[in-house]
Amino acid sequence: MIKPDRLDGMTRPDLPVSHYLDNRIYTDTDVFAQERDCIFSQRWKFVCHSSEINESGDYRLVNVAGCELILLRGKDNIIRSFHNSCAHRGARIIRKPAGNLKDGNMTCFYHLWSYDSQGRCVTISQPAGYKKSGVSKDTTALREVRVESIYNLLFVCLDDNVESLQNYLGEEVIEEIRIPFGEADLEVFHFHRTELKANWKMFVETNCEGYHELLHVLNRTTGVAFEDYRKRQWKCHAGGHISLEQAKIEYDQHKFDDRDSHTLPGMQPSGHVVVDLFPDMMLNCRSTVVRIDSLIPITPDRTILECRGLGVRGDSESVRAERIRHHNQVWGPTGTNLAEDVWAVETQMQNMISGASQYSVIAREESGPMTDAPLREFYAEWSRLTGIQPNQLGSEPENSVQ
Ligand code: FES
Ligand SMILES: [Fe+2]
Repeated sequence: MIKPDRLDGMTRPDLPVSHYLDNRIYTDTDVFAQERDCIFSQRWKFVCHSSEINESGDYRLVNVAGCELILLRGKDNIIRSFHNSCAHRGARIIRKPAGNLKDGNMTCFYHLWSYDSQGRCVTISQPAGYKKSGVSKDTTALREVRVESIYNLLFVCLDDNVESLQNYLGEEVIEEIRIPFGEADLEVFHFHRTELKANWKMFVETNCEGYHELLHVLNRTTGVAFEDYRKRQWKCHAGGHISLEQAKIEYDQHKFDDRDSHTLPGMQPSGHVVVDLFPDMMLNCRSTVVRIDSLIPITPDRTILECRGLGVRGDSESVRAERIRHHNQVWGPTGTNLAEDVWAVETQMQNMISGASQYSVIAREESGPMTDAPLREFYAEWSRLTGIQPNQLGSEPENSVQ
């Protein structure tokens, strides 16, 4: 029987503490609760693009740290967010995932209390019964949550005292997403959700390191095979946000069209950029089309992935069709890359649940896209916020080999 000296996934690696992970960070319910309380409840979370609630009265239901929120464009055109929970006895007020408030009000189906688009209670049914106790619509409202935006990307935060979104991202990161978000008037043309049988962090990891591009046939043939591509560098910004320099993709190597016409403002022909905003928002732009991925952790081993594709508002029919084709060649349910990433993380999760994999290695140190430096930055920020050492969760795992 071969006994590996150092790396077998079960033995604590003989590496610097920043260079490996204890895989219980993906499976442990206490870790998951700590992430909800210290990260998702306290940091800005991307929820949608403003084009998805374009008209007065348009709304979407969004999920942040396990709470369902209503995100609503009011009659005054201001976007607000409220807990989707009635001030009376907590029933869910809106039950359709997206739509328009035709009469401008939200009425709870349970006892018919009703709220306007600013969250103020406008009707308490049978109010005479509250005369003695003093319950009144004038002092009743939905619990509001902070909403801020940058380049039409809408974020909410459950913590009223959080710093501004501008500060949270920082000037350097805002500059990184200016292309294409600040240069083009974009709109969402594609949205889908899929459930991953994997921990949310695993999917973030797929967009934080270029080493796994070896998984993708498309990336192998159109990117990493070329010397220029291998020179592109990650930039690690304060707050766990990261970005990857723009590089040219050789689409013709995969029998796809070059993306040198209808490129988005600021993008080079066939250029590709990546920006990951901590904790869970992943932006990819491939020259003519943008993809935004974000995550809703449900349990340690279940995550909802939301994928959006964006083009330019006012695109002609033929240009939009081209952007949709470019989007679907790589991304969306019909592209190859999403399926490959999901396949990878779900197999990881199975081995982590069974205990067959106890440690993961994030030890690549090199110039170029294949370094693990961005993963280490992600976990440094994760650790700062949760107070958990990602390589050491209490006692040794039961099955570990010492
Ligand atoms: S719970 Fe909403 S009206 Fe009673
Ligand atoms: Fe990938």
